[in-house]
Parts: sequence; structure tokens; C-alpha cells
Amino acid sequence: MNISRNFIVIGGLYLLVGIFFGMYMGGSGDHTLAPVHAHINLLGFTLMTVFGLAYRLIPALAGGVLATAHFWLHQIGAFILLVGLFLLMSGTVGEGIGIIFPVAELAVLAGILCWVLNVYKNA
Ligand code: HEM
Ligand code: HEM
Repeated sequence: MNISRNFIVIGGLYLLVGIFFGMYMGGSGDHTLAPVHAHINLLGFTLMTVFGLAYRLIPALAGGVLATAHFWLHQIGAFILLVGLFLLMSGTVGEGIGIIFPVAELAVLAGILCWVLNVYKNA
């Protein structure tokens, strides 16, 4: 797996979606979904692009199990978090969905822990 390319390409896809939300808010004047927009752009585009660039710049980070674990934990955690936040804040689903958030947040956090360990050991 080319972890650097995957992070950067997927980050770009999040940016497209994030900009779409921003344009919708700007056009409609309804800013209810601002936190969804913010975190699609930040957790999706910004972080993933930073990670992708770092894995490209420091190849020693990219090879091991910590990098693979980081990639998948971030992808799965961020996706569940962002889709869940959208469904909740748009009123599509009720508060019952709240149970998924700690799980998704822990996945993102565990991924970041792998990242920090990897950087500490190999950067
Ligand atoms: C065409 C592109 C974009 C448009 C039209 C747009 C539009 C908006 C709008 C209308 C808001 C709500 C403001 C409010 O309610 O106070 C907002 C909030 C925000 N946007 Fe964007 N945005 C765009 C791109 C971006 C990008 C690329 C990022 C980050 C990489 C970003 C980060 C944020 C953040 C962090 C907030 C929340 C600010 C806060 O709550 O104080 N936006 N944006
Ligand atoms: C698991 C990861 C994260 C969780 C659970 C989380 C949670 C939150 C929460 C609960 C808020 C308050 C929203 C509100 O008052 O409406 C917030 C705001 C914010 N977060 Fe995060 N966050 C996460 C990751 C990040 C990351 C990685 C960044 C930046 C790279 C970031 C940047 C921001 C900013 C700029 C705001 C203020 C904008 C707003 O109110 O919409 N967050 N976050």
C-alpha cells in the first residue's frame, strides 16, 4: 500500500465534500452544519494531507505496522465520526446514534497514538 498517496488522495476527496458543505452554507445562510464542514476539512483534508506529506518526506515512517494501523484507524474512525455527525446534526437520525461517537473517537485516537509512536521511533 502506498500510504502517502492514499492519505493525500483521500484527503482531496474530503476537501471536495467539505467545500460542497461550505458552499451550501454560504448559499443558504444556514450554518447549522458548520462543525460538520469544519471537521470534514480538518480531520479529513488537512490532517490526511499533512500525514501523506510526512510519510512522503520521511520514508522511514511509511513501512511498518504502525503506519498501516494509523492509516486504517484514521480512515475508519474519521469516516464513522463525520458521517455520524452529519446524520445527527442534519436531524436525519436521533440522539441514539451517540453510541458510535466514543468508538469512532477512540479509533482516531488510537491511530494518532500509532502516529506519535512511529514519529518518536523513526522520524
Ligand atoms: C469554498 C470553500 C469554503 C466555503 C464556501 C466555506 C464556508 C464556510 C461557512 C459558511 C462557514 C460557517 C461560518 C460560521 O457559521 O461562522 C464555515 C466555517 C468553517 N470553515 Fe469553511 N468554507 C470553505 C472552505 C474551508 C476550508 C478549506 C477549511 C479548512 C481547511 C474550512 C474551515 C472552516 C472551519 C474550521 C469553520 C468553523 C469556524 C467556526 O466555527 O468558528 N473551510 N466555512
Ligand atoms: C476525534 C477528533 C475530534 C473530535 C471528537 C472533535 C470535537 C470537537 C467538538 C465537540 C467541537 C465543538 C463544536 C461546537 O461547539 O459546535 C470542536 C470544535 C472544533 N474543532 Fe474539533 N474535534 C476533533 C478533531 C479536530 C481536529 C483534528 C481539528 C484540527 C485539525 C479540530 C479543530 C476544531 C475547530 C477549529 C473547532 C471550532 C470550530 C467549530 O466550532 O466548528 N478538531 N471539535
